[in-house]
Amino acid sequence: MHKRSEMETCISCLIVVILSLLSTFANAEFHYHEFIVQETSVTRLCRTKNIITVNGQIPGPTLIVRNGDTMFVTVVNKARYNVTIHWHGVRQMRTPWADGPEYVTQCPIRPGGFYTYRFTIENQEGTLWWHAHSRWLRATVYGALVILPKQGSNFPFPLPQKDVPVILGEWWNRDIIAVQRQAQFTGAAPNISDAYTINGQPGDLYRCSRQGTVKFLVNPGEKVLLRVINAALNQQLFFSVANHMLTVVGIDATYNKPFTTNVIMIGPGQTTNVILTANQSPGRYYMAARAYATARNAQFDNTTTTAILEYTNLNSGANSRPSLPQLPAFNDTATATAFVNQLRGIPNNNRVPNQIDESLFFTVGLGLVNCTPGPRCQGPNNTRFAASVNNVSFVLPRRTSLLQAYYQNIPGIYTLDFPPVPPVQFDYTGNVPQGLWQPRFGTKLYKLKFGSTVQIVLQDTAIFSTEDHPIHLHGYHFWVVGQGFGNFNPQTDTANFNLVDPPVRNTIDVPVGGWAVIRFVADNPGVWLFHCHIDSHLAWGLAMSFIVENGIGEKQTMEPPPPDLPQC
Ligand code: C2O
Repeated sequence: MHKRSEMETCISCLIVVILSLLSTFANAEFHYHEFIVQETSVTRLCRTKNIITVNGQIPGPTLIVRNGDTMFVTVVNKARYNVTIHWHGVRQMRTPWADGPEYVTQCPIRPGGFYTYRFTIENQEGTLWWHAHSRWLRATVYGALVILPKQGSNFPFPLPQKDVPVILGEWWNRDIIAVQRQAQFTGAAPNISDAYTINGQPGDLYRCSRQGTVKFLVNPGEKVLLRVINAALNQQLFFSVANHMLTVVGIDATYNKPFTTNVIMIGPGQTTNVILTANQSPGRYYMAARAYATARNAQFDNTTTTAILEYTNLNSGANSRPSLPQLPAFNDTATATAFVNQLRGIPNNNRVPNQIDESLFFTVGLGLVNCTPGPRCQGPNNTRFAASVNNVSFVLPRRTSLLQAYYQNIPGIYTLDFPPVPPVQFDYTGNVPQGLWQPRFGTKLYKLKFGSTVQIVLQDTAIFSTEDHPIHLHGYHFWVVGQGFGNFNPQTDTANFNLVDPPVRNTIDVPVGGWAVIRFVADNPGVWLFHCHIDSHLAWGLAMSFIVENGIGEKQTMEPPPPDLPQC
């Protein structure tokens, strides 16, 4: 057997000493994780089936880090599908190769392959999450990413006694890839889900679900930080807890000015941190979520998921039926709007840009493509569903990723002619002439200079139906400087922008039949996907991508691709 020489021991001591010194100075840690993507048998709603999971868990592992820490997550693909993992909301400063959307920043990890995502959390605190970014696998491949303040610093609110993720998901009895394939084949809307879930469990309002119902135990008087994440595939949700008010303290890994509400609305991709105080009479209370659905003539899953908040000092009635919160009506846009209008950011040194270099206007909405009647033409009135941004329905490349094509100058993968304004102006939220319903298909990108200040007006359209769209920008967070209903009017609406304390997020739910305006500084080079976080809309093409060019110097230049980056 090999015996360690004194010399070697000494060197390893030294390394340990240096590392610990480094971490005391930098207050930052390295985290190593292994994610095994695998098929796992689970039972829900009286049925047993195989789903794809990370490490056999649904939700997958919760990662807990501090602002400033560095992550190394090795994803090993033991499933039979291609997969990638996206770190939703992580800015990935100079590390676009670790962002994860398939065919955008990397080729997929093939069955049997692996890839290590390496990135550092820079100036972000709060709740983010991770999910598969490959087909609709994120229906079951997702988990929480909790970012605590740096060592020695605190939340800007009193420390809660408990801190728990509350991940809202969406469940299909059928295999999700089969659901996606069917929708892609027929051109019709996908089958609606069979349940929503809280931390992977539907809750006891559904059949065969009493056993698994998630229970949160609280001591009387305690404050609990609930990190609510909407991981549902295709649905905005209302969330409420019976008899308890919720104080909103954070959204999408930024802090906001705290306010109190009895219900929150949360779009797919968004996170909302709320503090609940256990100040009610000892008992059992449901927390519940159900749809906020705005599209006309569209089916949606109208069921309700629940978990139980249970006081520890119950002396009797431990099995009594918990009380249910009053959730708003499915189409209660007034309540959704009143909620988001209360969101205010905390102004810091990072001021909202006043001078805008790139002023963009993007329509976001559905479309219908004419087709020859038959099995592949099952959308409304002999059409196939599509969706677009400025009438371009986004098509992913297959030969290589957009980021590799950009970095290695591979021609023929994309074009740079994404239109900065709609090619045709029309009454976006009025009666749209049928001639404008068909989008064009393309892999069109828009190039931004490093450091430029960008404003995007996001305008919903009434094509097929108005609908609220949760639009997510990879690699950035942005200020939401305004939103409203109808068509955006630059004359009257610009004057009402909030440039003082706008909320900061990575996903904005553009109001149904309305608009939202976001601003950001293009300070992170790479290729960044910008898309609707409703997976059916994404599959129909409700997306585009930005190229942000390198700046000058190491701090402004993207890192080279890691050697183990999967190839197509
Ligand atoms: Cu959470 Cu491109 O998505």
